[in-house]
Amino acid sequence: MSITKTLISNFTKVRQRTESICAPLEKEDYAIQPTEDVSPPKWHLGHTTWFFEQFILVQYVEDYQVFNKEFSFIFNSYYEKLGERILRTDRGNLSRPTVDEVYAYRKYVDEIMEQHLPALSCDEIENILTIGLNHEEQHQELLITDIKYILGHNPLLPSYGYFKAHLPIEENEEWVQMKRGQYDIGFRGDTFCYDNELNPHTVFIEEYAIRNTLVSNQEYLVFVENGGYQKFDLWHSEGWDWVQKNENKSPMYWHKLNGKWNHYTLEGLQELDLNAPVTHINYFEAFAFAQWAGHRLPTEFEWEAANQQFKWGQCWEWTESAYLPYPGYKKPDGALGEYNGKFMVNQKVLRGASVATSPSHSRSTYRNFFQPHLRWQYTGIRLAK
Ligand SMILES: [Fe+2]
Repeated sequence: MSITKTLISNFTKVRQRTESICAPLEKEDYAIQPTEDVSPPKWHLGHTTWFFEQFILVQYVEDYQVFNKEFSFIFNSYYEKLGERILRTDRGNLSRPTVDEVYAYRKYVDEIMEQHLPALSCDEIENILTIGLNHEEQHQELLITDIKYILGHNPLLPSYGYFKAHLPIEENEEWVQMKRGQYDIGFRGDTFCYDNELNPHTVFIEEYAIRNTLVSNQEYLVFVENGGYQKFDLWHSEGWDWVQKNENKSPMYWHKLNGKWNHYTLEGLQELDLNAPVTHINYFEAFAFAQWAGHRLPTEFEWEAANQQFKWGQCWEWTESAYLPYPGYKKPDGALGEYNGKFMVNQKVLRGASVATSPSHSRSTYRNFFQPHLRWQYTGIRLAK
């Protein structure tokens, strides 16, 4: 069977959406890497293209000529099996290739993909193409958060342009009571999921309660103003070191100006929206807030068992769970086996989705993961007890 028309049309749509995210940028914005975890937009555009070139065109299209032999070295992210690559910290040194050359690379790969996909026919290619599209959607979210970091750390705090705002948190906050018992965890459908959501299994959970709403900026502001960042006993040792070392006193992008709290948004600096969920806090901050509030963060299983009761898609929610393989987890063969499995150490699981998550790129079983000190994603807090 050949690759479905739907999949080919999804390819075109996903590729275009990435470029539309970058459309409001000026050329000067494309090459900046203000911190190690933030990649320049130009690099995301090249890397997502390299992914299709490397995993599909090079492997399956006879006589395919790569666009530029040096691009694998600069656009390979972390695939050891695919050879040498630049240090992550050097992505911001790529003043060349130019932005125009990177867009020409995209066009070259897209045209050859669109020309050859209808004739390629095997389940393996369909699977890789689907992973490639999901991969590019993950980078679309990273593009948004990286652009926010780049513009939000420019001393002039320029605006990116229109960006959908967080929904206000509704008044009717409730604790959802969950019964002690067995719950099904993991992905059970026949559509796409990542390997880290397999294998589905049953877990036993003690009775607990979980809030149906996220913690708001208003609630977090009380924590800030009551000295939450000065009380060492609320923090993990590593978290307290992070507070001290960086002199942190509030979430990323909060600015106190003339006695008033503001936050930088993609639409520029605005008065702090008290009804929006608090975002851009790391795991240390989420934990300290929960301690201060007399509650705790949910485990990822508690989150998944109760998620039907939440409105989600506002921000990624820190859980108390370490990012670990599910029972029976097996890394896929080949270079794509490096996609998830090798990161299962020293990271925390986040559940949900954020305002920056690509449409349809969220599931109740989706496992996002970041190191505990990172907060440039749209990350927030849901409490449990
Ligand atoms: Fe990637």
